[in-house]
Amino acid sequence: MSNIDDMLRAAREVRERAHAPYSRFRVGAVVRGASGALYAGCNVENAAYPESQCAEATAIGVMVSAGEKRIAEVLVLADGRETISPCGGCRQRLQEFADPDTVVHLCRVEGECVTMTMIELLPQSFGHRDSR
Ligand code: THU
Repeated sequence: MSNIDDMLRAAREVRERAHAPYSRFRVGAVVRGASGALYAGCNVENAAYPESQCAEATAIGVMVSAGEKRIAEVLVLADGRETISPCGGCRQRLQEFADPDTVVHLCRVEGECVTMTMIELLPQSFGHRDSR
């Protein structure tokens, strides 16, 4: 596993920019592309609640917009009693660009992280390998 200090730093920074006036729950997500570059995103809420976007979706959009299609590592950061647990939709979004053994770090602002693999986060999934 790589050193995650750079990912934690990027996640803390982008989380500060979250637009979360409704839930007040700010999230920062960082994906490391296969090139090694980091792509960061925050959650972006909307007064029409269902139009809100999770931090993971933002980070993935930034990565794809930059021209990368493979995720080498993921880190999600939020402030809660427990480490954040990504929603089902974001698990599916991440796995589109990840491999089963891609490492995912789920972290609290205080610094503690739980680390798992993509297949542990989303077992028995439907993915791009199934639809071709
Ligand atoms: N949220 C994320 O950005 N990522 C997650 O993994 C879980 C939830 C956001 C969505 C919403 O803006 C707020 O957190 C509360 O659900």
